[in-house]
Formats: sequence, structure tokens, C-alpha cells
Amino acid sequence: MDVRYSISPSGEKFALPTQKDYEKEFARFKEIVKKQKAMGREIVVVMGVGFVGAVMGAIVADSVDKKGKPGKFVIGVQRPSVRSFWKIPLINKGISPVKAEDPEVDPMISRCVLEKKTLMATFTYDVLSLADVIVVDVQCDFLKESLGNCRTGRVDMEALEESFYVIAKYIKPDCLVIIETTVAPGTTEQVAYPIVRKIFRERGIKSEPLLAHSYERVMPGRNYVASIRDFWRVCSGVNEKAKKRVVKFLNEILNTEKFPLTALDRPIESETAKIVENSYRATILAFLNEWSLFCERNGVDLIKVIKAIKVRPTHSNMIFPGPGIGGYCLPKDGGLGLWAYKHILGFEDEILKITPMAIDINDTRGLHAAQLVRDALRNMNRPIAAAQVLLLGASYREDVGDTRYSGSEVVVRKLAEMGAEIRVHDPYVEHWWEFEAQDTYPGVGQSRARFFRNQERMKELRIQKELFKAMKGADAVIFAVPHQDYLNFEPAKVVKTIGQPAAIIDCFGILDDAKIEKYFELGCEVKGMGRGHIQRIKDSVRKRKPGKR
Ligand SMILES: NC(=O)c1ccc[n+]([C@@H]2O[C@H](COP(=O)([O-])OP(=O)(O)OC[C@H]3O[C@@H](n4cnc5c(N)ncnc54)[C@H](O)[C@@H]3O)[C@@H](O)[C@H]2O)c1
Repeated sequence: MDVRYSISPSGEKFALPTQKDYEKEFARFKEIVKKQKAMGREIVVVMGVGFVGAVMGAIVADSVDKKGKPGKFVIGVQRPSVRSFWKIPLINKGISPVKAEDPEVDPMISRCVLEKKTLMATFTYDVLSLADVIVVDVQCDFLKESLGNCRTGRVDMEALEESFYVIAKYIKPDCLVIIETTVAPGTTEQVAYPIVRKIFRERGIKSEPLLAHSYERVMPGRNYVASIRDFWRVCSGVNEKAKKRVVKFLNEILNTEKFPLTALDRPIESETAKIVENSYRATILAFLNEWSLFCERNGVDLIKVIKAIKVRPTHSNMIFPGPGIGGYCLPKDGGLGLWAYKHILGFEDEILKITPMAIDINDTRGLHAAQLVRDALRNMNRPIAAAQVLLLGASYREDVGDTRYSGSEVVVRKLAEMGAEIRVHDPYVEHWWEFEAQDTYPGVGQSRARFFRNQERMKELRIQKELFKAMKGADAVIFAVPHQDYLNFEPAKVVKTIGQPAAIIDCFGILDDAKIEKYFELGCEVKGMGRGHIQRIKDSVRKRKPGKR
């Protein structure tokens, strides 16, 4: 028989379970749960141990009751797919399946698994039957059909719907199901509830399912754990009982004394809150795109403009957009709302205008970064085709290893389309699966490769770990993400390492004016997103050193 394997990002190989493993695994968990129940612990199953579920599970497992004793035993359930199975054995060894800058994540997972013994993971759905509470953290994607037009996209609820069916089939009637997944508004009441209720009736269960919604605001990064545990929550339930239970559960595991809970009347309100919250953020970022272009064309430095405005406390949440807005949430959440309006809630008119426009602007901002690289190289008489371009930062934001929908991907794909040779460095990313596995990641036929030509060989792209080696001989260097490692580069050292003057592209306002000036003095060309004042610095260097470009 063929054994199939799942390989972790660090290269560890784990054989996928076979049919005979399931029975043994469930028998083992039944024994474990019996002992845990005897200790008075509530059994919590977290479905999907990805970026959210892995850390949420650990937070629940780490929580203590009023006497300071662990009150919950957590089982993470994960589909045993080739892509994700490795997360299970890793958790069971006490190793975090997510790489995080937050120093709390690794010790928390190892403490809960190895010392407190309140956290385990498995592949068998049978454990759902042992749960008092289920927390659903599987993904719900929004698939785009074209770049820059999210109206042609659709929601992919397959994984989520599958979990609702599985949950309904296995759970005890009084098990509380908390959907944390960001869903299309209406999902809890109009998709999950009918599925669970129908299967309950088939199973002869007369009681109402206890479904609740409470969305995550987690930010993987330096404050990963705090962004779940020490953060405000919104929740709701399909009925009073579910609402009461979800409020009780969240009060037991989160720091709700300092960060109070908001309980809304209906799940569609909590679902809408999440979508509006993220669409608002996507919109203020997209709004700055046009002013970024305005600044570039009129000698204005947007970085200084934002800083000046933010002195006013009323405008303190203005943020510079960088080379696009990535992460798993902001590029898709507005799309979930757009789709729900029509396909769950049944409306045909187009009342949502700003939300999809913001997503489209954010999705295409990276194209402009690539154009700046092209223009800077042109000013140095180096054609973009065959130029060696080094991109610093593959992830979607600083100091995290999450590359999902990062602006950097669009920059790289556009440059590759124009014929550039690309090198990439990122201290937090081991594998840039969006390229390495572009035929199957994030799903078959879903890669953004399909929006560009010349992408076939991009599968060979590998993250370089040695920064100085990556710099050698580069024609252009793009500061794409403000990772800590990149903030204090000295221009003289950079140019010396490269071995020649290069085009320097600042996508995030990383370079201060003194550094920009220094790069020009060293014979480099500098361009920056939203940084129109660079031309002025260039002119003044040229005036002082007429020989320089
Ligand atoms: N990542 C973030 O920063 C963030 C922030 C806030 C909210 N969210 C939301 O949280 C949800 C989860 O996001 P994520 O980043 O953890 O996604 P993820 O892709 O990292 O994790 C989802 C996990 O669920 C597993 N899974 C899928 N179907 C399953 C099934 N039927 N049974 C068991 N496991 C299954 C997948 O294999 C994967 O490991 C999404 O709705 C997302 O929008 C994410």
C-alpha cells in the first residue's frame, strides 16, 4: 500500500494515518477524556489548528479557573491532508505549528502539551462526540477570478460547510458550537443552523442546536497571544441559551475584566461587525493609495504628511499602505459581505461600492511598486529584463512569517512578467509556498500566477537566508516590508555588499532623508512609494556633485 506523507515547513516527514489508525486513535482519546472529565475539566475541541486555531487552542488550554487550576482540556482537530497533517504530530510534541515573533507562543504550547497536559491534537472527527464546546477555526475563503475586480469573485465555503456537517453528525445535543471563522454575514443562522438542525432531527435529537458566533481579531506577530486573550470580543448566539453559554465560556478563558465582551442580539450582527471592521481598515488603506500617487507626482513625502496629520488624535489610525494590503483577512472580508448580500440575503442591487473598490485598489498597488523598480533601473540605463532584483520581505507585514496575499507577491510576479530575475530574502519565511507550490497553493487554479505571463519558472523561487549573499551583484533592491532586520541598514555597507550602485526602492517609508541622500551620493537611484520629495534630494546631490547621475 502507498504511504502518503505530510511534510512540515522545517522538512520533517509524517506518514498520513490509514483507516486502521482511526479506531485506535479514538479509543486512546476516550480514555484520556475520561480522566480529564474526572478532574472536572470541560472538553473543548478546536476545529482547524491553523494560524488562529493553534494559538486559540493553547489559550483555552492555558486558562485556569477561580482556584487557579486548569478547567479545560483542549483537543485540536485537523484534517489529515498532505498539506496540513504535520500540524498534529508537531502539536503533540509540544511544538507550535505556527512561527511567531511573539515569545509567548512557543512556551505556551509546550507548557500546555508537556507540563499541564491540557492540549493535544488529533485527526479523528470522532472526538467531536466527546466535546462540551467546539470552537470552529477553519478557513472560509473568497476566491477572486480576476486581479483588481473582486465583484467577479465568490465565497468558497466548502471546508466550513463540511465542518458543519461533521459537527452535526457527531456532537452531543447540548454541545456549544462557537464559530470563530470570519464568515459571510448570515452564515450562522442561514447556513450552519439549518444544516445542524436537519441532522439533529435525523439523529432523533429534538433540542435546538447551540450555535454561537464570536469572531477573532488575532494579529499574528509580536502580540499574537495578547491579540486573542487580552483583547475585546464580540459574540452572539442563535438563541438565548447559546448566547449565555458563549458569554460564560469567553469570560472563563479571556481577559474580559480588562477587555470587556460585547454580546450582540443575533449572529448576523456579530458577523457583520467583523466584515465592517475589516472593510473599514481596508478602505482607509486604499484611500491613501491615490494620495500616495499624488505625492509621488508633486514632490510631497506622504510619510511626513501622515505623521503631521496623526498628531491630531482623531486621525491617529492613518496607516501607510506599503506595496499592497495582504494578510488573510483584509483582501477577502469585504468580498464575503458583497457575496452574502446577494447569495445568502437575496438582494440584487449594488449598494456596496466603496468596500469592493478598496479591495481592488489594495490588490493592485503592488503593480505600481514594480513600475518604480522598472523606472529606477531605466534611469540607470539598465533594462528591467534580465536585471537582478532583490526583494527584501515576502510576508504581508513586518516581523511575521505569514505570506498570505502579501503585496510582495504581486511585485514579484509583475517584475517576473517584465523579465527580471528575482531573489528574495525574508528572515521569517522558510518557504514562499505561493511560488514554490503555485500549482496547488492556495488551491488548484487559485494562484495569482494566472493573472500574469512568464510565471512557470517562478516555482523555482527560493527564499534566501543569507542576506549579504543575496545582495551581491543585485541591480535593484526593494525594501518591501519593514522587518526589524532591514531598518538600520547603512547605505555605504549596502552598496559595498552589492558591489555596485543599485536601484533602491522604498515601499514602506523605511529610508529617512539622510539615507536617501547617501544612496544618491553613492551613485544609486532611489524611488519610493508616496515619496515625491526624493526627486528634490536627488537634484540637490546632483547640484553638489555634477558628475553623478
Ligand atoms: N490569520 C489571521 O490573522 C486571522 C485574523 C482574524 C480572523 N481570522 C479568521 O480565522 C479563520 C481561520 O483562519 P486561519 O488564519 O487560522 O486559517 P488557516 O488556513 O491557517 O487554518 C485553517 C485550518 O483549518 C483546517 N481545516 C479545514 N477544514 C477542516 C475541517 N473540515 N476539519 C478540521 N480542520 C479543517 C485547515 O487544514 C487549516 O489548518 C478565518 O475565517 C480567518 O478569516 C484569521
